[in-house]
Amino acid sequence: MSDYEKVVDTLLGRWKSQILYTGVKLEIFESVGTAPKHALEIAKELGLDGALSYRLLRALASMGFLNEKDGQRFSITPMGELVRKDHPQTLRGVILLEEGPEHYAIWKHLSEMVKDGRQDGFMREFGLRIFDYISQNPEYREIFNYAMSSYSATHTKLVLEALKSYDFSKIKSLCDVGGGHGHLICNILNGHPQLQGTVLELESTIKNKELLWAEKMGMADRCRYLAGDMFKEVPRSDAYIMKMILHDWNDEECVKILSNIQKASSPGGRVLIVEHIVPGPETPHFSKLFDIHMMCALTGRERTEKEYASLLERAGLSYVQTHYPTSRTIGVIEGAKQ
Ligand SMILES: C[S@@+](CC[C@H](N)C(=O)[O-])C[C@H]1O[C@@H](n2cnc3c(N)ncnc32)[C@H](O)[C@@H]1O
Repeated sequence: MSDYEKVVDTLLGRWKSQILYTGVKLEIFESVGTAPKHALEIAKELGLDGALSYRLLRALASMGFLNEKDGQRFSITPMGELVRKDHPQTLRGVILLEEGPEHYAIWKHLSEMVKDGRQDGFMREFGLRIFDYISQNPEYREIFNYAMSSYSATHTKLVLEALKSYDFSKIKSLCDVGGGHGHLICNILNGHPQLQGTVLELESTIKNKELLWAEKMGMADRCRYLAGDMFKEVPRSDAYIMKMILHDWNDEECVKILSNIQKASSPGGRVLIVEHIVPGPETPHFSKLFDIHMMCALTGRERTEKEYASLLERAGLSYVQTHYPTSRTIGVIEGAKQ
């Protein structure tokens, strides 16, 4: 692409993500299959307007999510498969959350935030912090938790790769702080039969038992779900893991969570912090964009390895090392209590 084309492509980013969001929300990808199907048939099946549906399908085909054949007939592509409900690594939840009405609305505050230095577009838009909004809005909560499991389908693989040589043999108990529905911890337990797991979570996140991975993966005897508040206390455990938690919070809030882990740990105890780690200035990285999303959504930020090491030290823990998968998309910062 020429520089001109790159600028135009960036400028049209929101159009593209809204077209994709609409296709996903209207369940277009569940209706279109591998055999070509007429636009009117798809529209009828989904209860949509025929003429406008054709234009949406054509745009989705132009972006590579569908194939368009002569006579307004469409079939699905491998990219389209990735956003279907039934794909094991589906990105459907992420799309519904990140382009849904709440997250769409918070971005409009970005320039004001950068001017006045006060982040958290969620608070500006809804007058509530995101996790309070989640507790009070079941529909948003459902999409948020679906998106977290959707992100986890990819993240869990990367964490398992990063930790493939990690010595879990001396660890008997592992607590996933803010572990959502438990996708990550259940997959770790799966590879380490001596481990017992605990997911510490907000009551509202874990109250629907049908959504919990321990139940779905037949691991309910090895993984318990504990309703609690990581800012108050965390349960005693040999080791802790936290994925996409510290990036939600400012430095003082992170030190509070880590201090609670420090208090509950025995000497030699470990903490594994999974995040998108910001690399040096020469390297373009997803974390540098996700950081702006954090600015819009709450008080958090993405951080460098050094910044995580400094948070650990402020909480009385020491930095040990960072484990990366080959792609370096995410990293696992290891801290220890001396
Ligand atoms: C960004 S999500 C990450 C979830 C999960 N670790 C993952 O990667 O899929 C943050 C999680 O923190 C949980 N959380 C927020 N505040 C919490 C608190 N005070 N105590 C425990 N969990 C909390 C939320 O319910 C949510 O599931």
